[in-house]
Amino acid sequence: MAGSTYGTLLKVMTWGESHGKGIGVVVDGCPAGLPLSESHVQEYLDRRKPGQSKFTTARSEGDRVEILSGVFEGKTTGAPIAMEVRNMDQRSHDYGNIMDVYRPGHADYTFDEKYGFRDYRGGGRSSGRETIGRVAAGAVACRLLKTLGISVGAYTRSVGEIEIDYASFDPDEIWRNRFYMPDAEAAARAEACLEKRMAEKDSCGGVVECVIRGLPAGVGEPVFEKLDAGLAKAMVSIGAVKGFEIGDGFAAARARGSENNDGFALTARDQEGNPLLKEKIVKKTNHSGGTLGGISDGSDLVLRAAFKPTPSIASPQSTVSRKGGETEICIKGRHDPIIVPRAVVVVEAMAALTVADLLLLSMSSRLDRIQSFFGR
Ligand SMILES: Cc1cc2nc3c(=O)[nH]c(=O)nc-3n(C[C@H](O)[C@H](O)[C@H](O)COP(=O)(O)O)c2cc1C
Repeated sequence: MAGSTYGTLLKVMTWGESHGKGIGVVVDGCPAGLPLSESHVQEYLDRRKPGQSKFTTARSEGDRVEILSGVFEGKTTGAPIAMEVRNMDQRSHDYGNIMDVYRPGHADYTFDEKYGFRDYRGGGRSSGRETIGRVAAGAVACRLLKTLGISVGAYTRSVGEIEIDYASFDPDEIWRNRFYMPDAEAAARAEACLEKRMAEKDSCGGVVECVIRGLPAGVGEPVFEKLDAGLAKAMVSIGAVKGFEIGDGFAAARARGSENNDGFALTARDQEGNPLLKEKIVKKTNHSGGTLGGISDGSDLVLRAAFKPTPSIASPQSTVSRKGGETEICIKGRHDPIIVPRAVVVVEAMAALTVADLLLLSMSSRLDRIQSFFGR
C-alpha cells in the first residue's frame, strides 16, 4: 500500500490499523535540540481521543503515546522519532454484521476493489484512528513552529447549518464547549441540533477553520509545492474531508476584483527583515488568506476544511454484499454522530506539518541566506 508518507524535509509515515495491535507514526527530519516529551504529544492526542462526550464515539481507549526513538534527555536528537499508541479496546465483533457488505459512505468497496482484501474491523487504514499518527506528528511540528513564534489554532466554524457569529468570537470559549466552537450560543444550538440528529439515527457534518499566526513572508515553493496547494492536499487527505478553502475561498468567485484584492501598506518595522526596507509591508485586508502565488505573504493564514456527516448511521441503508446480491444494512457499534470536534486537532496537526515542512524547504531559496548560514 503506497501513500502513507507525507512531507519533503519533515517527513512523516503513519502506520497501523484501527483494530491491530497498535497505531503510530515515524517523523523523520525533525531538527535536533527541540524539547519534546510524551506529555507534549499526549496533550494533542487527548483532544482527538474517543469517549469525551456523548457526541464522540464511546470506544474507551486511553490512547497513551509512547516515544520509542529520536528523543534523548528531553530533546530531539535529529534521528527518526517513532511514536506508538497501543490499541486497547478492540471489539472486532461489533463489526461482525458488516463483514460481507459494503458500508455506504465508507471505503469498504474501493479498498476491496483495489486490494482484493477486506479489513472489516472498523476500516483498517481508512479508519479515523489513522489520524492518531498525524496528531502525534503534528504535536512535534507545532512545538517546532512555536520556537519560531508561529502558532497554529483550529476551531469549529459550523455544525450542520449552525455557524459561529464572528461578532461573538471568544477564543476562550473554544475550550469550554464540546464542539470547540468560539461562540457559546452557536455551541448550544449545535448541541440541540446533534441531539435531534441522534434521535433520528442520523449524523451531521461541519467545517473546521484554522488560523496560522506569525508565519513570515516567503514560505511555499512554486509551482507544484505552493503553500496553499500543500495545505489543500494535507486537508483533503484527512478522512471525510470534502472541501477546502483558503481566505475567502469559494466566496472569492462571487466578488469583484476591487473587493477581493488586498491593498498593501507600510507600517513601522518591529523586527529583523529585508534591510533595504525601513518599513514593513502589510496588507490592509486578508481576502487571500495569507498566500500570494503560493508563497506566504506575512499575514495570517486562514483555511477551512469541510467534513461530511459521519457515514456510520443506525438507520437502514441500501447496499450490496461482496458475494453478490442487494441487501440492507443498519450499522451497529460505536460511532461519532459528528466527526468535526475530534477532527479539529487533526486539521491543526496537518496544517502544522505542512507549514513546518515548507518552512524548512524555504531556507534554501536564497544564496545570501545560505552564505550567511554557513558563515561565508
Ligand atoms: C477523527 C476522525 C474520526 C472519525 N470517526 C468516524 C466514526 O466514528 N464513524 C465513521 O463512520 N467514520 C468516521 N470517520 C470517517 C472515516 O474515517 C472515513 O475516513 C470516511 O468514512 C471515508 O470517507 P472519505 O471518502 O470521505 O474519506 C472519522 C474520520 C476522522 C478524521
